[in-house]
Amino acid sequence: MGKKLRIAIIGTGIRGTGCFTALLKEREDAEIAAYCDNNRKRAEKAAEIYQIHPAIYTSVEEMAAREKLDGVIITVPDCFHHEYAVKALNSGWNVLIDKPLATNVKDCQDIIRTAEKTGKTVMIGFNLRHHPVLKRLKEIIDEGVLGKVFLCENREFYDGGRTYMSRWNRLFQYTGGLWIHKGSHDFDIFNWLLDFPKPLRVTSFAAVNVLNPDGLPFPQEAGHKPGPDCSVCYYKDRCKDKYELSREELQLWGPEEVAEDGYVKNLCMYLSDKDNHDNGIAMVEYEGGLKASHFECFIGSKSDRIYTIAGDRGIAEVSLTDRTIKVTPRWRRDGESVTYRVGGEMEGGHGGADPSLVDTFCRVLRGEAIPNSTAEHGLLSTSIGQAAEISRREHRMVEISELYR
Ligand SMILES: NC(=O)c1ccc[n+]([C@@H]2O[C@H](COP(=O)([O-])OP(=O)(O)OC[C@H]3O[C@@H](n4cnc5c(N)ncnc54)[C@H](O)[C@@H]3O)[C@@H](O)[C@H]2O)c1
Repeated sequence: MGKKLRIAIIGTGIRGTGCFTALLKEREDAEIAAYCDNNRKRAEKAAEIYQIHPAIYTSVEEMAAREKLDGVIITVPDCFHHEYAVKALNSGWNVLIDKPLATNVKDCQDIIRTAEKTGKTVMIGFNLRHHPVLKRLKEIIDEGVLGKVFLCENREFYDGGRTYMSRWNRLFQYTGGLWIHKGSHDFDIFNWLLDFPKPLRVTSFAAVNVLNPDGLPFPQEAGHKPGPDCSVCYYKDRCKDKYELSREELQLWGPEEVAEDGYVKNLCMYLSDKDNHDNGIAMVEYEGGLKASHFECFIGSKSDRIYTIAGDRGIAEVSLTDRTIKVTPRWRRDGESVTYRVGGEMEGGHGGADPSLVDTFCRVLRGEAIPNSTAEHGLLSTSIGQAAEISRREHRMVEISELYR
């Protein structure tokens, strides 16, 4: 084996540690040379938890002056992706940006221009593409089993999505809206499955219907206000939605870390200020008459992505949680429905997708692979998400071309 890859992680929160630190630490061909986070205490605590010894920085400029790196992984809140990606590329580093690429089309275009100018590589963390069930679905579509695809649907139920309302994810200013923050995964999956047709127009409806003060799941007593966060709430022992911080969160968001920047992870999801949605539907029309719809529901205890893909020779129905793909041919005389159960390779985050993502990035850094998810793909999915966000706010259908003017 050659020299170890020297990788820095910018943003040492849950993704930066629980996914990327944990996975890189297991690899023999890479080391985490540096951490960069504006909260030094959190970065130091992360290093302590994972028993690693990276150099710790609070600014990229300082890191650039001192470190020779092969690549950086950017896992700060979405609104900072653009700033850090441009700085990283200009520092001569290859970059893996966890989704989304950036929170609007203009910032995505700027990242692409900077990558071209510096000759550095940008890969985007569309880990769903590495999901074994979706990889198999893509093969089925590419083999022509469904014929010419014309209609796609994804219904996403995400229990963890409720917690978006408890932290930065609840606000447009940090995310560009959940159609970008969360939907960029899902729009990318449509784009990828369909071989990147040009999206033309988008319409969406989304709102906060449940996670508002009227939805509090307990009667209030006179003189006792709920909140502001689950750790101190008077109703914490009877609230069905009490957010229990994980062991790692309790450490990374301990009193010293919170004192540093005031970032609390478990604000009351019913009372917190928010301008992102807790449920919604978006529809995309692509060139060639292709249509896709994406449904997001962050209420309830179910988590799954359930796809239906319709082509002129058959229909596929997919559940990521059940790990099944049921294919029904259009003319039954061609055969009965076939259900594929996709096993194996499921170890690790997001059904085995995260280890595969990290492995691909390391191989890209070694020059042994080219990124399978590029900045251009990130731009495409952000453009759909941004159009969906404008549509839901302005109650109109949005032409993608508007975003490029
Ligand atoms: N691909 C996926 O499945 C997936 C899943 C979850 C999150 N994500 C993405 O990962 C990124 C991080 O999400 P998370 O849930 O880990 O968030 P987090 O809040 O747990 O961590 C964010 C970290 O960034 C640091 N930070 C905040 N502002 C900063 C700044 N200006 N400069 C430097 N550091 C700053 C915080 O101190 C914190 O340590 C987001 O972009 C999110 O969209 C991707």
